[in-house]
Amino acid sequence: MNIIKTEDYDELSEKASEIIIKLVRNKPDAVLGLATGSTPLGLYKRLVTDHKEHGTSYKKVRAVNLDEYIGLDKAHTQSYAYFMRKNLFDHIDINLNNTYIENGTATDEQAECERYDGILGRFPRDIQLLGLGSNGHIAFNEPGTKFDSTTHIVTLADSTVKDNARLFKDISEVPRKAYTMGLKSIMQAKKILLLANGLNKADAVAKLMYGKPTEELPASILYNHKDCTVILDQEAASKL
Ligand code: F6R
Repeated sequence: MNIIKTEDYDELSEKASEIIIKLVRNKPDAVLGLATGSTPLGLYKRLVTDHKEHGTSYKKVRAVNLDEYIGLDKAHTQSYAYFMRKNLFDHIDINLNNTYIENGTATDEQAECERYDGILGRFPRDIQLLGLGSNGHIAFNEPGTKFDSTTHIVTLADSTVKDNARLFKDISEVPRKAYTMGLKSIMQAKKILLLANGLNKADAVAKLMYGKPTEELPASILYNHKDCTVILDQEAASKL
């Protein structure tokens, strides 16, 4: 695990953007595993600025997302599909047909998991971007998730519902169920880039750095990945 400590969120976002931009320039048809949430927003802004100023092209890139709330249509403003368009895809030249995310309103949920695993198999990811949950989750793989999991349906932990409530009008609107890429699927990416910023991630980061791989801390599976980079800001690294 390669750990990069940065001063602040800006520097974290800058370092992360350098990694993604370099990859896309070297491999114009790269497959990017992407994440939603607050953490990658600074990174996505930089990808957009770089695309506009330096012309880095995403025409041949494919983007595969981690997770989606069950029950939210892709047009719903809190869906992760909407988040990706609003914060990234609408501002770069990616072909939306080359972007993939679980369908939150699929009628057959089990079939949807299988469909998504098929997509992951067809498009091996060159890099998988991850944020870190305050409880140590990655994607929506909550503590206790099996290390050999593939795409599955999860009931979100109370702490995750609380963490994510800030983005909804009321906590009662936060969906309780979601699709998530599994831990085994995450590990299949050639490279992993985990970002964590802010004090509320400090405990999870400390457990991750001082512990051993355990299903109680889903992110700890990343110890077993041969090319994993973790970028922290000072606050997230404050308990190390
Ligand atoms: C998002 C995702 C989640 C978040 C994590 C951190 O697609 O899979 O695991 O990365 O909950 O969320 P933020 O970045 O909002 O602190």
